[in-house]
Amino acid sequence: MATPPLNPLPKAALSSGFRLGRDQLITIVPVAVAAVVGTYLASRYLCGRSRPKSQVNPTINKDSPKVVHSFDMEDIGSKAVYCRCWRSKKFPYCDGAHTKHNEETGDNVGPLIIKKRDV
Ligand code: FES
Repeated sequence: MATPPLNPLPKAALSSGFRLGRDQLITIVPVAVAAVVGTYLASRYLCGRSRPKSQVNPTINKDSPKVVHSFDMEDIGSKAVYCRCWRSKKFPYCDGAHTKHNEETGDNVGPLIIKKRDV
């Protein structure tokens, strides 16, 4: 008794990849895009929640709920240089501490300079 010949494998079974039809792509692409966008938004939300908010003022009047200084224009004189980096030992005046802060952090802060216009 002779054995029947084996049927050759169909061409689709020989190809290594799988193919998606147009209808399948129309379904899969929006789901994949929604999954990627959802993952991105969720990670941003979760990272934002876990990261502590940084403080601008590291040391000045920390026992006060708000640091406020007020000056009358008449008392300023011809020129005043005010600190905006919150590192000055003479705060609210600039003592040049912003230079070290900028070198250490890569920041670019500098003072506020108010002066009378030369007449
Ligand atoms: S020391 Fe703060 S701006 Fe100069």
